[in-house]
Amino acid sequence: VSITDDRQGKEAIREKIHAAGQIIRQGGLVAFPTETVYGLGADALNPLASGRIYEAKGRPSDNPLIIHISNMEDLEKIVRKVPEQARKLAEKFWPGPLTMIFEKSGIVPLETTGGLQTVAVRMPNHPAALLLIRSGGGYVAAPSANASGKPSPTRAEHVAEDMKGKIPMILDGGPVGIGIESTIVDFSEEIPMILRPGCITAKMIQEVIGEVRMDPGLAAENPEAPPKAPGMKYRHYAPKADLILVAGSKEKVQEKINELAEKAAKEGKSVGVIGTEETKDGYQYGTVKSIGTRKDAASIARHLYGILREFDQLDVEIIYSESFSESGIGQAIKNRMLKAAGHQMIEV
Ligand code: TXA
Ligand code: MG
Repeated sequence: VSITDDRQGKEAIREKIHAAGQIIRQGGLVAFPTETVYGLGADALNPLASGRIYEAKGRPSDNPLIIHISNMEDLEKIVRKVPEQARKLAEKFWPGPLTMIFEKSGIVPLETTGGLQTVAVRMPNHPAALLLIRSGGGYVAAPSANASGKPSPTRAEHVAEDMKGKIPMILDGGPVGIGIESTIVDFSEEIPMILRPGCITAKMIQEVIGEVRMDPGLAAENPEAPPKAPGMKYRHYAPKADLILVAGSKEKVQEKINELAEKAAKEGKSVGVIGTEETKDGYQYGTVKSIGTRKDAASIARHLYGILREFDQLDVEIIYSESFSESGIGQAIKNRMLKAAGHQMIEV
């Protein structure tokens, strides 16, 4: 159901969100927009409801969920303690695209945390999400609303592709603002650690709390150090096609992608190319799509998952993509692209 403001009044929207909240209170599932990606919500304190999320997504049951809250007081009830530094980050970045991991309290069922004694919590910066959380009882467990292994949904249509017939309601708030999932910071150990990069960067976090580490498991495919966030170990965010990143100077990348795309096309493969506003006209083979402009890294983040899904719909078999700088939100973009590519990258 639509909850955008165009043809209906605010009261009508509120009623729809309240109805969605009732579904959650009764143990059901509702997909809803947040500022990062669409979430698939259920009552986080009801083990049966959490179980339904795993079922609808086809998600492994050892992969814990994030509990979404709407105010700071509610945090105290689901965690054992809130470290001072976490409180500072919450003051600065909540509501917003930041998830923090704490030791869980007794009321949080192990079904929600994938069997862990820790719990991930986020206060999203989206009015509809906050209202849904309140009307749903205050604690909404929500992973991204994609089928397990597919790119996260950045529009309600993406949710429908994956969840049609499996859930009773999708709140359609239009395209999301950020387009990649929240930054995750783990406070369950002495020194806070980033388990998943996002649009809140390590530098922004350091400015508030001082030292923060990066999960060494994020660096590359490193069998010695598996990522600490269970969800980061799966081949994830992935299109059906094989995705190959090409890194280097603008001219060399374009030359290489043209060469590879021509070869694949001549072998009879259906080819996709991911370029930018600045470069898209320089590609001669395959279906070329612009992911955004290099002048605005946020535009690239916003379109990444949507583009992967568009290529899926075209039944493209192989995608060659430009690669992007790792500064700022670029680190998160690079992390998601490398995972979607199964770490296939060519440097020229
Ligand atoms: O932006 C977001 O965070 C979105 C929106 C809907 O809020 N949600 C999201 O959830 O991305 P999900 O389930 O797709 O990703 C959650 C990640 C997974 O990699 C999971 O393994 C990790 O967080 N995680 C959750 N609880 C954890 C815990 N207690 N310890 C370590 N990792 C945890
Ligand atoms: Mg996800």
